[in-house]
Amino acid sequence: MKDEKLGVKLPWSGGELILRNPIIAASGTFGYGMEFMPYGDLSLLGGFAAKGLSLRPMPGNPMPRITETVGGMLNSIGLQNCGAESFIRDILPLLPTTKTQVIANIYAHNPQDFAELAGLLSAAPGLAALEVNISCPNVAAGGLLFGQDPRAAAGVTEAVKKRAGSLPVIVKLTPNVTDITEIAKACADGGADVLSCINTLSGMAVDARSRKPRLAKIIGGLSGAAIKPVALRCVWQTARAVRIPVIGIGGINTAEDILEFILAGAWAVQIGTANFAAPDRIFSLPGELASLMDEWGIESCATLRGTLED
Ligand SMILES: Cc1cc2nc3c(=O)[nH]c(=O)nc-3n(C[C@H](O)[C@H](O)[C@H](O)COP(=O)(O)O)c2cc1C
Repeated sequence: MKDEKLGVKLPWSGGELILRNPIIAASGTFGYGMEFMPYGDLSLLGGFAAKGLSLRPMPGNPMPRITETVGGMLNSIGLQNCGAESFIRDILPLLPTTKTQVIANIYAHNPQDFAELAGLLSAAPGLAALEVNISCPNVAAGGLLFGQDPRAAAGVTEAVKKRAGSLPVIVKLTPNVTDITEIAKACADGGADVLSCINTLSGMAVDARSRKPRLAKIIGGLSGAAIKPVALRCVWQTARAVRIPVIGIGGINTAEDILEFILAGAWAVQIGTANFAAPDRIFSLPGELASLMDEWGIESCATLRGTLED
């Protein structure tokens, strides 16, 4: 489908990450990919990021861990997953890795574990990239998120990059910082090939009738349409601060949303919470994007990128 119009090539130190279109499913909202096969053909997508993987299986947080909010949702899933080894052994061989770009999303609580994950996954056949979730607590820093401290963010990036082999390293930024460009530059200096932003915004919801928080862990991550303006701001600032490609994430649900992020400087986008509202939605987005680009006379994603008139 109109690959010349929608196709994007993200340059990185080892080559190009080639996407048939700029639409990627976001980690944690698309299972391991297989769960969405009944809803559409995965090869229609530019790629998908599998659920965040840790070294060992994780049960996640106690329930309730999801609640709806105005224009979005809050989650405190706690990164429940099957562990990297089981993913490599039992799931990866079943995924259509030659037809779409499969991205492994990883998280850990110290740089050594991040590096070990990168080593394990880069040796497994079929993956197109690693995405590093730095929105997790750095145990050595008393729980401050890696992504909130430029030195820790750069340290994790370097550790992953050393073990990533032939895979490009995408570092995923948190919006829960004062100045996202400071973290973005630190990650780029640490060797990141691509940056993705944003992860969820820290938030909470209260049930006034029961006088209880709506999530068992009280605080969770806000996602969905409500965060789109924050995500656009972060992408715009990040794209101007670094020379590596940026992938935009946050509240994207329509072809017009995608064009807004590309105008702000994104090379590609990820679709997250929209997958929960309508699991087949993402599969119609490439066609809708191509039609809208035709209607508006936009030749290609590359010609539009970063052309916001300010
Ligand atoms: C239920 C849920 C689970 C998520 N799990 C992960 C994860 O494992 N790793 C990660 O990097 N981001 C995770 N995210 C963040 C999303 O990938 C995305 O960055 C965020 O939701 C913003 O995009 P959206 O507004 O389109 O959902 C999760 C989000 C949700 C809603």
